[in-house]
Amino acid sequence: PHELKGKDFLCLTDYSTEQINFLLDLSRQMKERFYAGERMLDTLRGRSVAMIFEKPSTRTRVSLEVAAYQLGALPIMLSSSELQLGRGESIPDTARTLSRFVDAIAARVRNHRDLEVLAQYATVPVINALSDLSHPLQALADYLTIYEKKGKFSGLKLAFVGDGSDNMLHSLMVVGAKLGVSIYVASPASLKPNESILAAAMKDAEITGAEIKFTEKPEEAVDGADIVYTDVWVSMGQESMAEAKRKLLAPYQVNAKLMERASSRAIFMHCLPAHRGEEVTDDVIDGPWSVVWDEAENRLHTEKAVLAALIP
Ligand code: CP
Ligand code: NVA
Repeated sequence: PHELKGKDFLCLTDYSTEQINFLLDLSRQMKERFYAGERMLDTLRGRSVAMIFEKPSTRTRVSLEVAAYQLGALPIMLSSSELQLGRGESIPDTARTLSRFVDAIAARVRNHRDLEVLAQYATVPVINALSDLSHPLQALADYLTIYEKKGKFSGLKLAFVGDGSDNMLHSLMVVGAKLGVSIYVASPASLKPNESILAAAMKDAEITGAEIKFTEKPEEAVDGADIVYTDVWVSMGQESMAEAKRKLLAPYQVNAKLMERASSRAIFMHCLPAHRGEEVTDDVIDGPWSVVWDEAENRLHTEKAVLAALIP
């Protein structure tokens, strides 16, 4: 359906609105079946999925492993250092070899380009488990959560407060634009999104009527927002910039005072892990606005949908 079998899942710019809606529908079905007691499905019985992690992960690696298991597939968790990749075997050769054993490869990489090379040489679907550029699996779970909480997409306003060059922001913009969710970004002017991602999102936004706006003032972005979203100030791999980014982003903390400016029924979202006391305060992430644990749970259901839809 919707030509997803065999497709890579690198960046949701490659997916149509129909394909994204199809994955969201399938995620909902997976969730319903899970809650109806159907934990084990036969969908991928006899299949295997290699999962390569170059960076730490709690949510993605556990939810992907459980997702594969519950669909009947064997998940194979690998850190790049324990593969021959860590001793200099090339990405193309790794891709060619793994493709002879497994039915899909998920990878969390430092450089998005490595995912593209992996996908170019693999003959099985390659799934982005986070790169420096994007985090599409998280965005899918986020929009499932938004729909569950708000019952619609079109006309919603999401305020993203923090790092304007964040990988999470990229994926939220790409999908939001396709679904008609407006994205208001509050960020220091020096932290800009990737140009081609922004251009792609702008193009889709024109069709759906979603707005994508930038401001340096958190209050301006959050005013009347339906969703307030933030992410860590220092992403994995940016450790050398940590001090400078913390200083630059200090005025962009999501605290109760800022949340008061959002819509009275606003929700707070964060992909996690959170750095409490930096980008978000305890009273927000533990407060009435927060949906972060439902959001985290939805990683499992959306990943089951992605694996089931992509693996032939
Ligand atoms: N949100 C997310 O991807 O978390 P992990 O880094 O723990 O996988
Ligand atoms: N922007 C964060 C997201 C973590 C899930 C990072 O890349 O570290």
